[in-house]
Amino acid sequence: MTVKQQLLALLEDSKGEYISGEDIAGRLSVTRSAVWKAIKSLQSEGYSILAVTNKGYSLSPHTDILSAGAIAKYLDAQGQKLRVEVFKTIPSTNEAVKILATGGEAEGKVILSEEQTAGRGRKGRKFFSPPGTGIYMSILLRPKLSAAESTLLTTSAAAAVALAIERVSGKDTQIKWVNDVFMEGKKVCGILTEASMSLENGSLDYAVLGIGINVAFPADGFPDELTGVATSVYPDSSAQGDLRNRLVAEVLNRFMSYYEHLTDRLFLTEYRQRILSLGGPVLVMKDHIQRKATALDIDNDCRLKVRYEDGDEEYLSSGEVSI
Ligand code: BTN
Repeated sequence: MTVKQQLLALLEDSKGEYISGEDIAGRLSVTRSAVWKAIKSLQSEGYSILAVTNKGYSLSPHTDILSAGAIAKYLDAQGQKLRVEVFKTIPSTNEAVKILATGGEAEGKVILSEEQTAGRGRKGRKFFSPPGTGIYMSILLRPKLSAAESTLLTTSAAAAVALAIERVSGKDTQIKWVNDVFMEGKKVCGILTEASMSLENGSLDYAVLGIGINVAFPADGFPDELTGVATSVYPDSSAQGDLRNRLVAEVLNRFMSYYEHLTDRLFLTEYRQRILSLGGPVLVMKDHIQRKATALDIDNDCRLKVRYEDGDEEYLSSGEVSI
């Protein structure tokens, strides 16, 4: 760890309290001027660090900058095993993790970024990823699953995100099948799993689980095409404090506990009870044909059971369903 990273970890450990420059220099075994330089550098990155004569330095409790140290504070024992790295800006965290995966990186690497310049969504769409207000995160997994079972990664992640948002914000969430997390009728989170098959045995070689959550309202608002469709966990200015770091950790804690027992479907109850429009009308778009149906149930493989107007029933595993 660099002096700056060690200093940040120290300040985060005693957030809101003052530590003297001398104390910090002693603990990090560096000079006081090296401490001062590192403080200046962190401040220029946007960290709110107060400096008071005779008291020392203190990281404001309202700081909400993503950092591995701040996330680690909220991770449980299992989450602590993950190797979290945070970037300021990156084209796409999914792409970055994919590159690591093909280079042989072990399971458990997590990459986050304050901003993505080429965030990827499903079906070749872009994922709006402005700086400072969202969570853009990708996890490298090497599960023993077949390609067909890989959908469980996405659906269990949706349940993990939904639960994590509820715990941190105290607000309700819903899931639009298959894996979009909604609040108040609008999307707050999208999930994109990119998997690579092993040629030897037909199972997954690796999967990159990418999660994008709109946490605070974007500084310049949502672009026109997302207005009325997307929202944030905190759509007003009520987002305060270490929210994003807490939310990241909560998502990772939840997801890892589901992931450990994925084939037992521990996540299924939470997933099922949040699915929008069960029992209600849906429009199913298949092969460019739209049909009216009723959403009946979610089965153990997270397929959506629908009944069409002519009485035919079908289990859908993917595709476009509108409410
Ligand atoms: C969707 O709703 O279409 C899926 C969006 C997935 C976005 C996340 S943000 C982190 C990760 N990196 C990416 O480029 N995409 C995913």
